[in-house]
Amino acid sequence: MTAVELGIPRISGAHAEPSAPRPDDPALIDTFGRVATDLRVSLTDKCNLRCTYCMPAEGLEWTPDERVLSDDELVRLMRIAVEMLGITDIRLTGGEPLLRPGLEDLVARITALRPRPRLSMTTNGIGFGKRAKAFADAGLDRINVSLDSVDPETFQRITRRDRLRHVLAGLAAAREAGLDPVKINAVLMRGVNEQEATSLLRFAVEHGYHLRFIEQMPLDAQHGWNRTDMITAEEILDLLGTEFTLTPSPARRGGAPAERWLVDGGPAEVGVIASVTRPFCAACERTRLTADGSIRSCLFSTDETDLRGLLRRGGSDDEIADVWRTTMWGKLAGHEINQAGFAQPIRPMSSIGG
Ligand code: 5AD
Ligand code: SF4
Repeated sequence: MTAVELGIPRISGAHAEPSAPRPDDPALIDTFGRVATDLRVSLTDKCNLRCTYCMPAEGLEWTPDERVLSDDELVRLMRIAVEMLGITDIRLTGGEPLLRPGLEDLVARITALRPRPRLSMTTNGIGFGKRAKAFADAGLDRINVSLDSVDPETFQRITRRDRLRHVLAGLAAAREAGLDPVKINAVLMRGVNEQEATSLLRFAVEHGYHLRFIEQMPLDAQHGWNRTDMITAEEILDLLGTEFTLTPSPARRGGAPAERWLVDGGPAEVGVIASVTRPFCAACERTRLTADGSIRSCLFSTDETDLRGLLRRGGSDDEIADVWRTTMWGKLAGHEINQAGFAQPIRPMSSIGG
């Protein structure tokens, strides 16, 4: 299936009209008619795992604390986003967001904003077991837990840490705390965990978790991604088809990146996010804030706009909102991973936020 068949127009190239004046619209519009309503906030670039597709074994040089936004600064930017820029959904990411001290308090402050944003978190789940109830009480609506294998040895091979049981405890606690749905994100790698696609789906169906496979993207700090090692959406569906019957889900896709399939007639579903082979950039609703206070219009942007300076120099809400709008107006059509000359962003995924 192509993007066109999916009802998503294919676009490529730079801006539709690079010099077009920006209409006087408070929302985060761009030159392609997209409107960003979904804000992804990276809370830290640190992590307690070392997934091979993300970081080298020795970790990375973490952003110094004084450059990381404080809770007060984050809440201010999120308030501006919600009150002035039309953001309706906020996702907390990392690195590993749970490493941020006092995160429950930050969650409560975000869900107290009005209009109240829907709030979700992408986490590796470690430590969530003990904190799930506190997060649910603070208003967290949903979580996505990254889990690429339910086999302890493969898990350790991928993450370079022996922490599978802590992730599983985090997942179980999320369900018990009433977070719904509990989603799992999995990345398959050739010769590493591709043969575990079916056991991951069996595990998710048995426990009532919603599994989504994500094609591996060129966002690792080591720049080790290569196209032939990537397991494509088509291959993922073939692997799952050896054990399950998949039929297209009737659920509306909207701007959501996952194509969804009913598993053995439903109600269980599995999602496949074909970020590379079937890009969904034309339907993108996202804007991103890094832990050190930069706005990015795309995961793959090669430039970004610093807001921390303006914030710390005493910039007004209106000034901050305007810089954010201008940055998003300049959002490019798409990531162009499939074009010759594609350049991987300098920042790795762990410092942009997934
Ligand atoms: N390609 C695809 N997904 C990735 N993730 C991290 N790095 C990559 C990559 N290079 C996933 C993580 C997590 C989410 C933040 O993105 O597994 O679920
Ligand atoms: Fe940590 Fe996520 Fe990167 Fe794994 S993918 S090392 S869990 S930030």
